[in-house]
Amino acid sequence: MEKELENLKEALRNELAETKKEADILNVKSKYVGKKSRIFELLSDLKNMSVDDKRKYGSLMNVTKKEMEMMVSDALENLDSQSSNLFDDTIEFEKELGSLHPITIVAKEVTDILKRMGFTVVSGHEMETEYYNFEALNIPKDHPARDMQDTYYLDNGMLLRTQTSGDQIHSMERFGAPLRICSPGRTFRNEDLDANHENTFFQIEGMVIDEGISIGNLMYVMKLVLSEVLKQEVDIRLRPGFFPFTEPSYEMDISCTICGGSGCPTCKNSGWIELIPGGMVHPNVLRSGGIDPDKYNGFAFGIGLTRLAMMKYKINDIRILNSGDIRYLENFRID
Ligand code: DAH
Repeated sequence: MEKELENLKEALRNELAETKKEADILNVKSKYVGKKSRIFELLSDLKNMSVDDKRKYGSLMNVTKKEMEMMVSDALENLDSQSSNLFDDTIEFEKELGSLHPITIVAKEVTDILKRMGFTVVSGHEMETEYYNFEALNIPKDHPARDMQDTYYLDNGMLLRTQTSGDQIHSMERFGAPLRICSPGRTFRNEDLDANHENTFFQIEGMVIDEGISIGNLMYVMKLVLSEVLKQEVDIRLRPGFFPFTEPSYEMDISCTICGGSGCPTCKNSGWIELIPGGMVHPNVLRSGGIDPDKYNGFAFGIGLTRLAMMKYKINDIRILNSGDIRYLENFRID
């Protein structure tokens, strides 16, 4: 009898080890501890046994039955903790995964490179005040530079930011000097749409503030970012530029990757694409951020992430990027 009870437990243990689904465990349960199970049969036979045998085997049978019931409930509990009830892996389904958007890919590549150089990644607000978008950046009301960045003014007196540059001020206020931040995000301008212009596009702002920073530091960082992200030979040229928040300001252009520099609609037939404007932070901007311009200086830059994605993947029409056309975007799948 003892042997038979041991065998029953052993058989139950083996069958449970083989089952992965609730329905199968319930079948095993009814086979081993249900009304028609062997242990039930043995228990109901107890009444025909001698008083001695009843005493000898009665409690052993009951204990065995309890143990077997526990084994079943443990198996069911394990199943719950693996959420197998919710996820039936025997069902066939389409294993088609989505892909990252090209702008997401380049944004991640740029922030990863900058993070390696000690930059903190911050995130600004798409709805911004005029103060942070313009005034604190040395663009007072009525300054002609505002014309170049026509935007959407909101009923609440705020605006959709035209640039990520306002995050320079937020970061200086928040962290003080010395500082290394970058801030990727969406920006908006009231533009007529064409192959090169969208009313919604992405930039990443960068700012470094410390003692004794030079334009050489800026050039080094930019070259590293470009060579790692584009992974192809491109010519670079530096031109003087104008931005109220940097002095001196410059524009870094790269040779157009779509036409190789010979001229096409994307580069307006110039062979060059304006990619990274930047310069040395204007003392008024440092003051707006509460930083002493006699002690600290720094550089700032704003990379057009949308353009960078176009150049990296040779996309000749900016509208494709915001179109949500999965057939096109799938071409940039990285696995
Ligand atoms: N915010 C400028 C734009 O959208 C780009 C820019 C220029 C950012 C110079 C900078 C900078 O940080 O130093 O056109």
